[in-house]
Amino acid sequence: MNLIRTEKPSDFAAIHAVNKQAFDNRESEPGLVIAIRNSENFIPELSLVAEANGKIVGHILFSRIHIETEDGQVPALALAPMAVLPEYQKQAIGSELVRRGLAEAKRLGHAIVIVLGHTAYYPRFGFSAALAKSLECPYGDCGEAWMALELIPGALDGLQGKVVYSPAFSHV
Ligand SMILES: CC(C)(COP(=O)(O)OP(=O)(O)OC[C@H]1O[C@@H](n2cnc3c(N)ncnc32)[C@H](O)[C@@H]1OP(=O)(O)O)[C@@H](O)C(=O)NCCC(=O)NCCS
Repeated sequence: MNLIRTEKPSDFAAIHAVNKQAFDNRESEPGLVIAIRNSENFIPELSLVAEANGKIVGHILFSRIHIETEDGQVPALALAPMAVLPEYQKQAIGSELVRRGLAEAKRLGHAIVIVLGHTAYYPRFGFSAALAKSLECPYGDCGEAWMALELIPGALDGLQGKVVYSPAFSHV
């Protein structure tokens, strides 16, 4: 049984290790977590860890971004990064993290979540490339990997604009 809970300062080193190991020992994703955590776009309730027998084995982070529209900025959340230790993958830990994170984000009143990620993975949680079609990806043509989800039905209706990630993402 896995426990999903919000991060604590004493988890920071383990969260770093989980992101590093899941992303082929790169420092960019652990660095992204630190940069977001130290920014105004960090939402403490939306940095979740998965614990198995007292060990941190997974992590997910949702942070503030916005959509630049003709009528001004519309707030949204970015799901990034998420990571599960290689030896704990394919045991539904990632799914539990996504579902808990989305439920918590909804509870907090957030309306839109954007992810740039695996096309075979995120649609099962309700993310859709079709919903993101009128949102410009800041990284060029992101294709089907560019997905959006409405936590409040209709939140994306008629919305058109460019998604602006926070400066922390320039580290990746
Ligand atoms: C993506 C990740 C967080 C999923 O965690 P998990 O605990 O294994 O997820 P679950 O057990 O809930 O689901 C497993 C599913 O993820 C899919 N998946 C994992 N990596 C994938 C990839 N690169 N592309 C597509 N699907 C992927 C598996 O194929 C599996 O699909 P299935 O259920 O149809 O068999 C984990 O694989 C990971 O840490 N990967 C490396 C880091 C990464 O890519 N993060 C996401 C960036 S968008």
